[in-house]
Amino acid sequence: MPAADHWNDHYQQGKGFRPVTEVEVEVRLLTEHLGPGTGRRALDLGCGTGEYAAALHDLGFTTTGVDFSEVAVATAQDRHQDRDGLDFQLVDVDRDGLGLLPTGGFDLITCRLFLPFADLVPTIASARRLLASGGQLLVTTPLAERQRAGWESIGLRSASLDLLHSFSWAATIEYSLDDLLCLLLTTHPSPQRTSQ
Ligand SMILES: C[S@@+](CC[C@H](N)C(=O)[O-])C[C@H]1O[C@@H](n2cnc3c(N)ncnc32)[C@H](O)[C@@H]1O
Repeated sequence: MPAADHWNDHYQQGKGFRPVTEVEVEVRLLTEHLGPGTGRRALDLGCGTGEYAAALHDLGFTTTGVDFSEVAVATAQDRHQDRDGLDFQLVDVDRDGLGLLPTGGFDLITCRLFLPFADLVPTIASARRLLASGGQLLVTTPLAERQRAGWESIGLRSASLDLLHSFSWAATIEYSLDDLLCLLLTTHPSPQRTSQ
């Protein structure tokens, strides 16, 4: 996996990644799948310079973005400093295991162009711990098998997709965004406590 310095160099040069489009957010998330985020909390893993986290914030979600690139996090904080309910934290998802974030603290966790670079099983296990009852995990990713030779590592392999599906989900929605696969995975609601 590339170390933080690899990503720091990329961001230091003023480069980003695939721009966040209105179709991706307004149409697919707001209109078709998630609805408005008002009153809900989102966590964006591997947030880079924060454009996707900002788009979730635009939908109404109180949003936290985490990334292990100091340059990305500083840029995100600088670009979005005037917004209440949007913050960015320096976190190495593989090393810190998201342990400092609140258990059950998020209704939505997003991984946009991130999961192929993370340790899949511990990341998903941590994400599930952080999701509230019935919370959702949205994975937006290229597929390794569809990349040209030498670029496979930017995508998820089908074995990793199988692993992802092998966790128990209450519902799974799959859709595509050009060449990206989007998977919206919903956790089971916790059993309600009944009063005696
Ligand atoms: C391809 S970029 C995608 C950035 C952003 N999500 C986007 O859609 O533009 C992958 C991001 O994951 C971050 N990253 C990679 N490994 C990480 C880790 N172990 N912990 C936290 N962030 C990580 C990188 O610093 C980089 O910002």
